[in-house]
Amino acid sequence: ASTGPFQVRMPVPQTLRPVRSSAAGDAYQIDIRPADVEILPGVTTPALTYNGSFVGPTIRAKTGRPVTVTFRNWLDMPANVHLHGGHTPASSDGHPMDVIEPGQSRVYEYPNAQRGATLWYHDHSHHMEAEHVYRGLHGFYLIDDDAEKGLRLPSGAFDVPILIRNAQIDETGALVFGNPVERTVLTANGKAQPYFPVFARKYRLRLLNGSTEGSFTLGLDGVQFTQISSDGGLLPEPVPRTQLTLSAGERTDVVVDFSRHPVGTRLVLSDATAGPIVRFDVVGQATDLSRLPDELRPLPALGTATVEREVTLSFDMSGSMPVGLVNGQPYDPNRNDFQIKRGSTEIWRVVNGDTAWGFPHNFHLHQTSFRVLERDGGAPTLDDAGLKDTLPLAAGSVVRLQATFNDYVGRYVYHCHFLEHSSLGMMGQMEIVP
Ligand code: C2O
Ligand code: CU
Repeated sequence: ASTGPFQVRMPVPQTLRPVRSSAAGDAYQIDIRPADVEILPGVTTPALTYNGSFVGPTIRAKTGRPVTVTFRNWLDMPANVHLHGGHTPASSDGHPMDVIEPGQSRVYEYPNAQRGATLWYHDHSHHMEAEHVYRGLHGFYLIDDDAEKGLRLPSGAFDVPILIRNAQIDETGALVFGNPVERTVLTANGKAQPYFPVFARKYRLRLLNGSTEGSFTLGLDGVQFTQISSDGGLLPEPVPRTQLTLSAGERTDVVVDFSRHPVGTRLVLSDATAGPIVRFDVVGQATDLSRLPDELRPLPALGTATVEREVTLSFDMSGSMPVGLVNGQPYDPNRNDFQIKRGSTEIWRVVNGDTAWGFPHNFHLHQTSFRVLERDGGAPTLDDAGLKDTLPLAAGSVVRLQATFNDYVGRYVYHCHFLEHSSLGMMGQMEIVP
């Protein structure tokens, strides 16, 4: 096998075709199955996949148009599926105990009654979510929104989802889960440090940190790009950035104007410490009818909060294995930690309580998105802007966020999205009641 970066072209995950479409919506089918993939050039790596590819097929949904996906589990162990960022009925949310047994299939219903946004789907089975996602059970789910069409943002071939993640691969080509080892590679859409040819025009890049743990601090060789969205959809206006942080599970869409760089320019998207991820090669001229307007989309009104809660994430390090805790307790699927009235607006004070150990965490809420009101006693950062469902928390950090639980009743989870931590118990459960 050859080594060194930028040897293979970054693939764009294939957009899945519906097996059925009608006035009622679109129906898709996806197999959860093992497959051999090629992450490092010339090296075969056994993975767990959606339809055989290390980054699963992309589902392109539309605001207001329902989607159903029939997932069939061909693995020899239970699996399930969570639509991360989806406002989803509890029965289709991929609750940890609500699994697809081997050989069985299950229909998930996604109403898409939400704004356009970059979502993703991934495994969420009890105690196994970290390993399953690590081994490849992740894919994009993009919601297009007619209300945003008039903005004429880059679309079609110029709207490119990029799942960024790390992977450890041993000399046999196997993915090594859990043990820090020899070769950690950074990947984009399932390839180690690929290149991607672009034209001298604007592109919308939908960046997802699909790693199971950790954060990336991303830059593009110091050149300016424009952030247009966060987890839950467009920001009110574009924000020029040269660097941004994405913790595991977070998404940011950016517009990069490659016409500012002469043909022949190569720009590398890198993590500040881990190094190059993907190189963009400006290969030719192209007409560009897309726009980057000064105003994008106002955020929904914030509402008035009536309940305040506290959520502290930490590890119990006293035993032989670390135990993940939320408010001092490990996850128990039979215990509801919070009861929330549907329609209510709440403020959650989320704390990383691991000051003694210095462990970073992050926080992810199911069912609804939230707004960050305050971080560490001050203003939110640029990375906290907009509609969020996941955010990083350094040791000792405190974030106040506000959420409205207005869609569905039932039980949902919230957890650290460093999935190694949630798999060890760092997860809580809420029941939304009428
Ligand atoms: Cu992306 Cu509960 O997960
Ligand atoms: Cu954590």
